[in-house]
Amino acid sequence: MKDFASLLLLLSAFLCGAELQTQAQQAAAPAPSSPASTSTPWWKNAVIYEIYPRSFQDSNGDGIGDLNGITSRLDYLQKLGVDAIWLTPIYPSPQVDFGYDISNYEAIDAQYGTMADFDRLVAEARKRNIGIIMDLVLNHTSDKDPWFEQSASSRTNPKADWYMWRDPKMVDGQRQPPNNWISDFGGSAWQWDPARRQYYYHEFYVQQPDLNWSNPQVRQAMFDVARFWIHRGAAGFRLDAITSLFEDPQDRDEPYVLGPDGQPRIDAYGDKEVTNIYTDNLPEEHDVLRELRQASEAAGAHRVVLIGETYLRSINDLRKMYGANNDELQLPMDMQVGFINRFDVALFRQRIDEAETGLDGDEPLFVFDNHDNPRWDRYQKDAAGAPAFGYGPHHDDIGRVIATVLFASHDTAMMYYGDEIGMVTTPPARKADVRDPIGIKGWPKEKGRDGERTPMQWNAGPDAGFSSAGVNTWLPIPASYKTSNVAAEERDPESMLHWYRQLIALKKNDPALHEGEEIMLNTADDHVFSWLRKTANGEAVIVACNFTAQPQTVSFDLSAQGVSRTGLKTLMKTPGAPEPHSIASVELGPYGVYIGQVR
Ligand code: NOJ
Repeated sequence: MKDFASLLLLLSAFLCGAELQTQAQQAAAPAPSSPASTSTPWWKNAVIYEIYPRSFQDSNGDGIGDLNGITSRLDYLQKLGVDAIWLTPIYPSPQVDFGYDISNYEAIDAQYGTMADFDRLVAEARKRNIGIIMDLVLNHTSDKDPWFEQSASSRTNPKADWYMWRDPKMVDGQRQPPNNWISDFGGSAWQWDPARRQYYYHEFYVQQPDLNWSNPQVRQAMFDVARFWIHRGAAGFRLDAITSLFEDPQDRDEPYVLGPDGQPRIDAYGDKEVTNIYTDNLPEEHDVLRELRQASEAAGAHRVVLIGETYLRSINDLRKMYGANNDELQLPMDMQVGFINRFDVALFRQRIDEAETGLDGDEPLFVFDNHDNPRWDRYQKDAAGAPAFGYGPHHDDIGRVIATVLFASHDTAMMYYGDEIGMVTTPPARKADVRDPIGIKGWPKEKGRDGERTPMQWNAGPDAGFSSAGVNTWLPIPASYKTSNVAAEERDPESMLHWYRQLIALKKNDPALHEGEEIMLNTADDHVFSWLRKTANGEAVIVACNFTAQPQTVSFDLSAQGVSRTGLKTLMKTPGAPEPHSIASVELGPYGVYIGQVR
C-alpha cells in the first residue's frame, strides 16, 4: 500500500541536497507562538478547524473540493488563527458514507488528489504553523476494503476473524440475526453474508463492517496505519466512533428505551430505540487507546495529538478517556457543552465548570458543530422552541455568543468550516435532492447531514468561489452566498469573520484568555452567562454573554475571586453596545457580549 511516487519525491529531494527531515521531524506538529511556557503542548488552548474536504475548495472544477483547494486557502486559515486542520477522511473510498467507508488506509482518494498533493499540503501548512490532523476510522472499514473481502471469502482465511462474524439465531426454523442490535443508520446492525453463511455486524451502513478489535492482528494493522501517517507529517488523529470499538462478548440484547407509554420508543428510521449499553463505551476500549498512544508517541516524538469523537453521558465518562495515568487521549471531544442546544445559562455554567474542575487539570476540547450536526444557527428557535435554521433576526448576535463561549473559555476550541462567516444549515427541500443516505432512508423525519455540508461561501462570484463546476457542485450552493461570504465579510469590520479573528487573536495573545483559570460569576443569574479568566499573575478578564433576546445589565463584584480592581478596558463587545465604566454596570443588548480586562 506504500506510495512509490512519494518515496521517489523524497529520494530526489535528498539527492538534490535538500534537507531531508528525520521521521520525528516530519511528524512535528506546528509550534504556534504561545505566550505560555514552551513546554506547553502545541494543542493546549489551540484552535482546531474542521474541514469537510468535499466542500471547502474545488481546484479542478469537478464540483468536489480537494487537497490542492485546501492548500490554496492556507493563508486565509493562517490569518484566521487556526493551529491545526482536521480533515475528514480523504482516503480511497466507495464514498457510501462520504469517506467514512475506507477501502485503503494508506493512500489518497483520486477525487481529492494525490499523495504528492497531500505532502505539499502538509509542508505548506507547516510553513504557516498549521498542523494536519487526519481522521482515523478504526471501528470499521468499507466492505470494499481488501481486508473485508478476504475476511468474507471463507471461514478459514487468515483474516477470517478480523470482523464481527456471528452464526444466525434459529427461531422456529427461521434464520434470525444474533440479537436486537440496531445500526445507528437504521435497521438491524447484522447483515447476512451468503458466502460465509454468517452475519456480520455493522454499527453504521451495511457497507461499513465493524472490525474485531479483540484480534491483536487488527490492532497491529491499524497502529501501522497510524505510524504511516505520522511519518508523512500528520500532527494527530481524530478518532472516529472511538467509543464503539467493542461490543458485548455475550451478544446480549440491548434493553429498549421506553417512552411515556412504557413501550419502546421508535426512532426516525422506524426502529425500536435501544440503550447501547452493550455496544458503546465498553471498558476494553481503554487498552486500545493506551496502545495507540504509545505507538503514536513512539512514532511522533510526543507531538501527535489524539482527539476522540466522544459523545458521552457525563463528565466522569469523559474524564476516563484521558486515561487513568494520562496515557490515552489528549483531547476527547467534550460534547456536553456545545450540544446543550439551547441557551440555558445554568446548564452552560454547570457543564463548563465541570470541564474546568472535573477533568483533573486535563484540557477540554469544546465543539459546537461538525459535519454530522446542524450548524450553530440551530441555537435560533421558533415559537415552539424548535431550531430555526437560517438568518433570523438575531443570527449574528447569537453567533457572537457561541463564538465567545467557544474561544473565551479555558479550552482547546474546535470549529467547523464556515462557522466564522455564519454559514447556516441548509437542508435539502426535497427528498430527491438528498445525498446523504441516512436522509434518504429517514426522510422526512431525518433529512440527513447535507444541510451542514454545503460548499464554503468564499465570494459572490460564480459557485461562490468554491468551484467552477456550475450547477454540478456535489451539493448545491446555498443562495445566501451572494451576501454571506468571506469577501463581503472581509470588507465589514463588524462581520462575524472579524469577530472570530479578534476572538482567536485574544485567545492566543491575552494571557488571561489564553491560559487563565475559568471561574463562574453571578451564579444565580439565569439570563446572563458570565465568567472570569484569571492567571496566577493576577491578569483578569471578565466575559458576559446575554443568553436572552431582552437587554440586560450586569454587575460584578470580584472580591471573592481575589480581584480588588473595578476598572475595565474593553477588549471586545457587540457592535453598538455602550462602553462600561466599571465592573459595577455592564449593559448588554439582546444576545449581547462583553469582554473586558479588569484593571
Ligand atoms: C462519525 C462520523 O463523523 C460520521 O460522519 C460517520 O458517518 C460515522 N462516524 C461513521 O463513520
